[in-house]
Amino acid sequence: MDLCIIGSGYVGLVSGACFAEVGHTVICVDNDQRKVDMLHRGEIPIYEPGLEELVLRNVAAKRLRFTNSIEEGVDHSQVVFIAVPTPPQADGSVDLTYIERVAREIAGVLKPGQYRVVVDKSTVPVKTGEKVEATIRRYNREAELDVVSNPEFLREGCAVPDLMHPDRIVIGSSSQRATDLMKRVYEPFQAPILVTDVNSAELIKHAANSFLSLKISYINAVSAICEASGADVEMVADGIGMDRRIGRNFLNAGLGYGGSCFPKDVKAFIAISDELGVPFHLLKEVENINAGQLERFLKKVREALWVLREKRICVWGLTFKPDTDDVRNSVAIDLIQHLVKEGAHVTAYDPKGMSKAVEHHLLPAGVKLTHSALEATEGAEALILATEWKEFANQDFSKVKEAMHTPLIFDGRNLFNPKTMREFGFTYHGVGRP
Ligand code: UDX
Repeated sequence: MDLCIIGSGYVGLVSGACFAEVGHTVICVDNDQRKVDMLHRGEIPIYEPGLEELVLRNVAAKRLRFTNSIEEGVDHSQVVFIAVPTPPQADGSVDLTYIERVAREIAGVLKPGQYRVVVDKSTVPVKTGEKVEATIRRYNREAELDVVSNPEFLREGCAVPDLMHPDRIVIGSSSQRATDLMKRVYEPFQAPILVTDVNSAELIKHAANSFLSLKISYINAVSAICEASGADVEMVADGIGMDRRIGRNFLNAGLGYGGSCFPKDVKAFIAISDELGVPFHLLKEVENINAGQLERFLKKVREALWVLREKRICVWGLTFKPDTDDVRNSVAIDLIQHLVKEGAHVTAYDPKGMSKAVEHHLLPAGVKLTHSALEATEGAEALILATEWKEFANQDFSKVKEAMHTPLIFDGRNLFNPKTMREFGFTYHGVGRP
């Protein structure tokens, strides 16, 4: 099929490449000419395992191309996906400016007799589909279209495999013609397809991400009880996770959730429910627990080091999770900001996130970045693990101990085995484990 994806960010670019990989012909549209030029040169603006090969292969096979012209994309495609950012506003509600603008732009280029399925792939509040459709029709009275909601559930760091092998595909549609076309788009993926109405599909995305955040906050609240009682949260998580109704996934206690989805989507769902007059108080507590997790962790660091001023602290990890270069809303960065504010001298290392952290000026002045994990520990009075990259688990800890001034580890993601670390001679503090 001929597809167009408007917006070449995480969701748009990965979806475009995967659609091309399964045999569709895809035009990716972006209004950022710099990004389009980069993609023309074969440069990928984001780091995502497997994405570069996928893009290059499909560009070479002429199934994938890039442009800044919405008209070109809409003209050549039966299905037009909208995958533009939906950033949070100061009050937590979703800023739909980009979606509205794209709707107007589509209206401006749709020609009479050109039936198109317009698909909302961005994460949007329930009822956005209705507004997109009304907007297109307002600016183009002859438009022939159906608007469909098709939320994306990919995770950063494993976006390509997530997209190629999804747990489910949600198609929110009120038109059989549009549903049939969408089923053809997704047929090659051989994944279960759930067809719903548009509003339900939109809600599924916010409800899913809020539920996963809730699961993380739940285990983090349990980790506080474990610390107070001497129990081990890892064992508790294994024990409850073995119940298939609960499942072990997303029960990893730590510094809390970050990234560009969970914090934003929980906030948005709270704002949506408030606006609909049915406040979702439970989600406010999910946020409180998440924020409290870093506070409790810092308290532990302060208790062990007494005064943080002038302490040399090494932080391993800057990204919001491993296998990505994304440092937006990263708890690791929040942690560093707290440490620096209290006067500590921070040295940090991350396998992929350092250049973006510098580029976006996310690190406070004085933070030193190093070329290796080991180098960052040189002379440190404490080592804090903030992101659970495999590279950190594979370090030679006798060398780490030798490099450090005092052998103290704060493991914010429960990556290390406490017993092994103690055998190496470290004083070990994890989250919710003795
Ligand atoms: C998430 C959803 O998983 C995905 O379906 C949606 O499309 C986008 O949002 P992502 O933000 O890429 O994906 O990362 P994810 O792997 O879900 O992790 C989010 C945050 O939760 C990270 O900060 C991670 O460290 C944290 N987390 C995750 C935990 O603290 N504990 C866990 O058990 C799992």
